Amino acid sequence: MSETARLTVDGKTFELPIVVGSEGERAIDISRLRRQTGLVTLDPGFVNTANCRSAITFVDGERGVLRYRGIPVEQLAEHSTFVETTYLLINGRLPTQEQLNQFSVLLNDHSMVHEDMRAFFEHYPRSAHPMGILSSMVNALRAFYPKIPERSQEEEINITVTRLLSKVRTMAAMSYKIFRGHRVVLPRHDLTYAANFLNMMFDSPVRPYIIDEEAVTALNIFWILHADHEQNCSTSAVRLVGSARVNLYAAISAGICALWGPLHGGANQAVVEMLNQIHEAGGDLEPFLARARDRNDPFRLMGFGHRVYKTYDPRGRIMKEVCHRILGKITRKDPLLEIAQRLEEVALKDPYFIDHNLYPNIDFYSGILLRALGIPLNMFTVMFAIGRLPGWISQWKESFEDPDWKISRPRQIYVGPQKQDYVPMKDR
Ligand code: CMC
Repeated sequence: MSETARLTVDGKTFELPIVVGSEGERAIDISRLRRQTGLVTLDPGFVNTANCRSAITFVDGERGVLRYRGIPVEQLAEHSTFVETTYLLINGRLPTQEQLNQFSVLLNDHSMVHEDMRAFFEHYPRSAHPMGILSSMVNALRAFYPKIPERSQEEEINITVTRLLSKVRTMAAMSYKIFRGHRVVLPRHDLTYAANFLNMMFDSPVRPYIIDEEAVTALNIFWILHADHEQNCSTSAVRLVGSARVNLYAAISAGICALWGPLHGGANQAVVEMLNQIHEAGGDLEPFLARARDRNDPFRLMGFGHRVYKTYDPRGRIMKEVCHRILGKITRKDPLLEIAQRLEEVALKDPYFIDHNLYPNIDFYSGILLRALGIPLNMFTVMFAIGRLPGWISQWKESFEDPDWKISRPRQIYVGPQKQDYVPMKDR
């Protein structure tokens, strides 16, 4: 017999079903609560609210566990590529060699961007943040690639998904080249997804880019670690906007906007800015830690803390190892890595951080890795966005096919003025 929870209100008791997930997580199903009791629930920031059932990603924040479709992220980072992990997330299983080849061919076929889109890039103010540009460009894709009426819905979704995965990477590199006033480098059919991106970013007629396999591996790992993280802010934005049944480009564009924020994907840029500030101030950590501990100061130690992880973020651990590996191979040392390590060491022993369960998250070391790869600071969050794309797409697809689908429409507790009459201007 299935378990229930009991809620007593005004002397009446209501039975609420308890739902159990495949990893034993339990939740009280309140989907009929308002109909049964006339009450709603209040949960700012959805701290206690599950918005859906999902079979994509499992996170255990207490034990520091992250799995995509059941496979530990550590195994994927060691053995997989970003393209294979993308296939896994979107299709629910690892591909055969033939399926992977087909998928790679499709990604290659869709990698060009409509030439007319260049005008968009070229007329953006040079000071524009690449995340703002990327979100509008992704939204604009619908205008350049409208729905083809002869195609079935499934075909249309598959093409849109492949276009997004392939073109967003091309557009990101293109925006960087145009921003620098350089000639755009087109995608090449003979390069893998990550190598192609590095080549589009760094190749130039005067200095041909030589593919560095270590950098390609590091970038694959970086993107695998970012590929999905269940119902985070940007993914919830994609699901929420998508629930109104807008086209996939518009839903992804909303996700990009949400990711831009410094509390979310923008944190990788903010971490490096903070480490730079510490470096420029002479390397003393205490003033920054003191500000982080001060409740009256809005300053936060960037790259620390997480809504779900109350232990070390498993992605952060892998990212730290990759940073050391990459930086070990590059003769140039990064003083920010040394500051980051010191900061981590001190913060992990600090009572404030211990009491608040604040550990380094994925963004703490990812910026240092991106610097080592030569990615400019204002492109850091774009790198996160490329990585998160498979997650957004698979979550959107899952919600699109969900039999329990409903347009997202939370309730509120109104606390404004009660009814009052309009006062004519002369009497105010
Ligand atoms: N530095 C100092 N204090 C912190 C920090 C921090 N980085 N993070 C949380 N706290 C404190 C916070 O002040 C609060 O203290 P108190 O209970 O005394 O008022 C307590 O810890 C709980 O914080 P919260 O804001 O209620 O926690 P949250 O789950 O709403 O926020 C977070 C999670 C990630 C937004 C937050 O930890 C934060 O702002 N971290 C810095 C930004 C960052 O690194 N973001 C990247 C997140 S991981 C990648 C991603 O998801 O995009």
